[in-house]
Amino acid sequence: MIFYFSGSGNSQAAAEAIATFQNDQIVSIVQAIQSAHYHYALKPGEKVIFVFPVYAWAPPEIVSQFISHVTFGEIDPDYISVVVTYSKQTGDCLNAARQLIEKRGWQVTSFYSLKMPHNYLIVGQVDSYEVAYQKLVTSVPTLREINQSIAKKEEVFKEARGLFPRLRTKGGSFLFRDLSKGPTSFFANDHCISCKVCEKICPTNCIKVKKKPKWEGKCIKCLACLHYCPKSAIQYGKKMEHKKRYTHPDVLWHELNQCRNKNRQPKF
Ligand SMILES: Cc1cc2nc3c(=O)[nH]c(=O)nc-3n(C[C@H](O)[C@H](O)[C@H](O)COP(=O)(O)O)c2cc1C
Ligand code: SF4
Ligand code: SF4
Repeated sequence: MIFYFSGSGNSQAAAEAIATFQNDQIVSIVQAIQSAHYHYALKPGEKVIFVFPVYAWAPPEIVSQFISHVTFGEIDPDYISVVVTYSKQTGDCLNAARQLIEKRGWQVTSFYSLKMPHNYLIVGQVDSYEVAYQKLVTSVPTLREINQSIAKKEEVFKEARGLFPRLRTKGGSFLFRDLSKGPTSFFANDHCISCKVCEKICPTNCIKVKKKPKWEGKCIKCLACLHYCPKSAIQYGKKMEHKKRYTHPDVLWHELNQCRNKNRQPKF
């Protein structure tokens, strides 16, 4: 069973490729949390695979929340794999994920990191078209290797820790806790066409669109709203207007985190 979360489509594309290869069921963590569905019965020997992006060298808060609540009934998972997508380095994300999973009395059997295009626009820029394209091309054989390894239930730990991984994960999480206090720096400029895409894809439902979007409540800085806005109208602070946006080419806004239900269809 594959559980995933994604902000700009990279982790979703990876999770879907894993589900196809492993012929396994895929579950959106956003949908699971929104419907308070935390119980999943495992078949004997069934693998559990978590797929998500690295946020500040650690798992995103929404993923930690899900892992701390999910239950598998009578059968304890005997193979848990964590697959993270990242753009530069994973820091000590493996240990952070391990701590979450061990708290539940389970073990991480394998960890894989998949380099993908950068999406954290709040600091810096997205990758150039050429760099993003190269990362996507390279991700295909890497994902095949990951899939073959998972299929054999190998015990493998492939990280891209970078320099000072522990320090980054400790300091980064602290810094990020601060950043995630509120969505007050978001606003939409006059290019907004009131389509409500941002409202429909926000994983924490913290956007309400009347004429323009308003942000209120818990924002996890996934940047889905910012990247998927069809008019690039969403800004964070003053310096974002000329920055390019990025979304994975195979994941359309209404597919993100399986937000396929009818009331999420656009009203253009
Ligand atoms: C809030 C936030 C924090 C991030 N932190 C890191 C990081 O610590 N290391 C890294 O390599 N990439 C980082 N990234 C980049 C993403 O991990 C990367 O682009 C990922 O593939 C995005 O996956 P998604 O499209 O499924 O959301 C961050 C992105 C966001 C939005
Ligand atoms: S997605 Fe963009 S254009 Fe649509 S309502 Fe939100 S800000 Fe406006
Ligand atoms: S407001 Fe935007 S960045 Fe914040 S959680 Fe919602 S979609 Fe993600």
